[in-house]
Amino acid sequence: MILVTGGTGKIGSELVNSLGKGKTAFTVLARSREAAAKLEGRGAKVVLGDLDKPASLNDALAEVETLFLLTTPRPDLPAVEQKLLAAAKAKGVRKVVRISAVGANPWASSALLRCHGDCEAQLARSGLEWTVLRPTVFMQNLSFFFGPVIARESTLYAPAGEARLPWIDARDIADVAAQVLTTEGHGNLIYELTGPEALTYEQVADLLSGHLGRRISYVNVPDGAARQAMIGAGMQPWLAEGMITLYHLFRANGTTALALDTVERIAGHAPRTLADFLRENEAAFRPLKTVEVLRN
Ligand SMILES: NC(=O)c1ccc[n+]([C@@H]2O[C@H](COP(=O)([O-])OP(=O)(O)OC[C@H]3O[C@@H](n4cnc5c(N)ncnc54)[C@H](OP(=O)(O)O)[C@@H]3O)[C@@H](O)[C@H]2O)c1
Repeated sequence: MILVTGGTGKIGSELVNSLGKGKTAFTVLARSREAAAKLEGRGAKVVLGDLDKPASLNDALAEVETLFLLTTPRPDLPAVEQKLLAAAKAKGVRKVVRISAVGANPWASSALLRCHGDCEAQLARSGLEWTVLRPTVFMQNLSFFFGPVIARESTLYAPAGEARLPWIDARDIADVAAQVLTTEGHGNLIYELTGPEALTYEQVADLLSGHLGRRISYVNVPDGAARQAMIGAGMQPWLAEGMITLYHLFRANGTTALALDTVERIAGHAPRTLADFLRENEAAFRPLKTVEVLRN
């Protein structure tokens, strides 16, 4: 039995779709009754629990052999995951597949990457079989985070300079995860996952312009303005700082700036292109019509 965490999120919801088409038994962890009802509506078997409260995971971990571990990074995450791994081991879990991030390292300059690096290191020491998936930046960031501003101002603002990133579609990460969860031979390995081509933010803006039929400009904003905008949008200051230092690494091409073939080798299909993603998600970048604005 597989237990999927993060099943309401970008990767996890696609993973639920993917596992739902196969024969392997799985359950999905939900933190609230509302989330559980939505997942059940899509055919998934759901258990309630919260990774922050190991006692709440007793039912969820029963009979689980493989744990898909995805959660939101934060300073105390290594401590939270340490308790979770101990509880999982005690319940008989055999392997853990963890979503991390490209560049994860306990000594990284970005707190975000240090958090993932510390969690990876303790998973490797846990005595459980493990596989770490380290994706690069998600194409979905463009629709989720940048989409509303692009729709309103026709501008992609980021402190990314000339950084070239091999953007990945979260659906490809889910496809790789489904393979790793349901087949053997991935024990104690780290897979770096990228999309098919490394593109600058300027090139992303050009692609957006082509798809939307209007000019989308890229504006390289200074760190201070980017930090202020992230905090103003509700991001916690440590995370905003972690993002700013991540952009420093991106600008120096200090994480993976190359497109790798891992998705194709593991998932068995070519990774989706940014052009495919934009074609399918154009609505996220289009200005709302007056009637839609009134309805919202
Ligand atoms: N975005 C990127 O470009 C990027 C790049 C590389 C790596 N990553 C990594 O990918 C991961 C995020 O993946 P995603 O974007 O698919 O996720 P997401 O959409 O941000 O969703 C986060 C998921 O984690 C769940 N969660 C958070 N705290 C939890 C807790 N205490 N107990 C149980 N569940 C909890 C959330 O549940 P609720 O619905 O209940 O909140 C949700 O299902 C992070 O580790 C991030 O660092 C992201």
